[in-house]
Amino acid sequence: MNVWSVEKRRSLRWAPLLLAALLPAGCVTMESIAPSVTPAAASSARTTVAVLEQGRTIYTTDCTDCHNAVAVTAHTRAEWPDIIRRMAPESKLTPIEERAVLAYVMAYSK
Ligand code: HEC
Repeated sequence: MNVWSVEKRRSLRWAPLLLAALLPAGCVTMESIAPSVTPAAASSARTTVAVLEQGRTIYTTDCTDCHNAVAVTAHTRAEWPDIIRRMAPESKLTPIEERAVLAYVMAYSK
């Protein structure tokens, strides 16, 4: 076990609280939380399907280590950049990965 996993464990203590706050009662599908990438979305976000796919993969895997995936529409385009800046180090993302996640959430948020 490395130092990172210890850190994660500590953050996990907050997970139940966080999940209660994040997930409304009822059924929430992954498609509504993190919509699949379409060429149209990539084109209107002026990026590529590959970048958005990379972002979505990170969003649904690395970003769910400590808490469930937050719906991309839970935050506005104005809010996401700060959140991703704060959360990228939590997932130890490279700058390229961070940009891909940001591009993804920006493409699908409100
Ligand atoms: C190491 C654990 C950890 C990882 C990995 C992590 N988060 Fe978080 N996240 C937290 C904790 C703890 C909070 C609550 C405290 C806070 O806001 O800082 C949080 C809060 C959030 C919130 C605000 C909750 C809300 O009300 O919507 C969002 C959004 C979020 N995270 C998104 C992400 C994204 C996107 C990633 C991937 C880049 C990520 N998180 C990776 C631990 C983590």
